[in-house]
Amino acid sequence: EDPRSLVKRPPVVTILGHVDHGKTTLLDAIRHSNVASGEAGGITQHIGAYQVEHHNQLITFLDTPGHAAFTAMRARGAQGADIVVLVVAANDGVMPQTREAIAHAKAARVPIIVALNKVDRPDSNPDFVKRQLAENGLVPDEWDGDTMIVPVSAKQKMGIEDLLEAILLVSDSMDIRANPNGKVLGTVIEAQVEKAKGVIATLLVQNGSLEMGDIIVAGTSMGRIRAMFDYRNRKLRKAGPSMPVLVMGLSDVPAAGDIFQVYKNDREARAVVEERKTQAQNRQAAVPKATLEQLFERYQAGETRELCLLLKADVQGSLEPIVSELKDLNKSEIKVTILQAEAGNVSENDVMLAAASKAIVLGFNVTADTAARRLAEAEGVSIRLYDIIYRLTEDIEKALKGMLE
Ligand code: GTP
Ligand code: NA
Ligand code: MG
Repeated sequence: EDPRSLVKRPPVVTILGHVDHGKTTLLDAIRHSNVASGEAGGITQHIGAYQVEHHNQLITFLDTPGHAAFTAMRARGAQGADIVVLVVAANDGVMPQTREAIAHAKAARVPIIVALNKVDRPDSNPDFVKRQLAENGLVPDEWDGDTMIVPVSAKQKMGIEDLLEAILLVSDSMDIRANPNGKVLGTVIEAQVEKAKGVIATLLVQNGSLEMGDIIVAGTSMGRIRAMFDYRNRKLRKAGPSMPVLVMGLSDVPAAGDIFQVYKNDREARAVVEERKTQAQNRQAAVPKATLEQLFERYQAGETRELCLLLKADVQGSLEPIVSELKDLNKSEIKVTILQAEAGNVSENDVMLAAASKAIVLGFNVTADTAARRLAEAEGVSIRLYDIIYRLTEDIEKALKGMLE
């Protein structure tokens, strides 16, 4: 895009956090206190995203289960959101999914604002939670860090204005722009089939302007947009960047996270879909299904005090010394399991395998292609690449020590 044609667009915000820390309640509180009054009753169809207006500025919220949408988008290489609001219950503190969300956001380089929720509870302990957050790399700005931590009570609708304020502050410091007249593309937030209506998809327009009658392709689904609504269920003819819309007219249900694009005509769209379907079939054929499932069962059932490794090296010859070095490490308390040792670059299949068995991928003198990296990010699989054998084994030794602590 020509930078001169880029204009400011509303920030897209997704809410992440540990189970029961109050994500849904917070989204509801934001929606009810800020979507124009009287509007709520008019919502007949749930849409997976909405916008609120604060000081005449729009903010787009993704209203789907945060993790699912965010992960799916990132798995497909789309930037899921501009800002993450991390909900942390002030009585419960930093929990496993809180850490996972932090890791996710950091990997995607998306700034985090913490909504310190449930401060109304008598057992809430904000200072303790702030210390925990600091230990996890989110140092509160009041302690000279750069993370905004906003105390809220989603239940009592307290602190919501402050949170919106914080979102606008962070978004103003970023360069959140798009070209409303440029190439039309965006992301599928969610989609389903409904009786009589056919496929209904929530799309987030990220560049250009989507119009009624446009022919779009999303994943391997295509169609002409025959109806379009905003998050208040009002009919729309055109939707610009950062706008969530509900559309009808797609042939099949696209996956959350699929990128959609507008094509000139039916023929072009069809050609794209056909090519993608062929590619998908080829990929399918390449996955050793039985092996994957067998491995999954074996390792899922196993105890966690085991370090699973998947090893890739440039040539067969360099695998042997690495394997024997790693086997030596087996004298420790933690069992080192080498799931697979193969020659070749790190592929998407390797990452799938590693994800299914919670393994770490180690590469020696190899690379990982973009698809493999994206999948690894989405699945939380770590790929570690080395060009010196002893550094590889040294790292594993360190990891074993870390696990023992
Ligand atoms: P999952 O979607 O299951 O991960 O949960 P969630 O993060 O969406 O949490 P949810 O909004 O369902 O809230 C979980 C529980 O916490 C509910 O019983 C809420 O009523 C309660 N809760 C949420 N926010 C607050 C709050 O600010 N104060 C208090 N006291 N309770 C809250
Ligand atoms: Na819940
Ligand atoms: Mg929820």
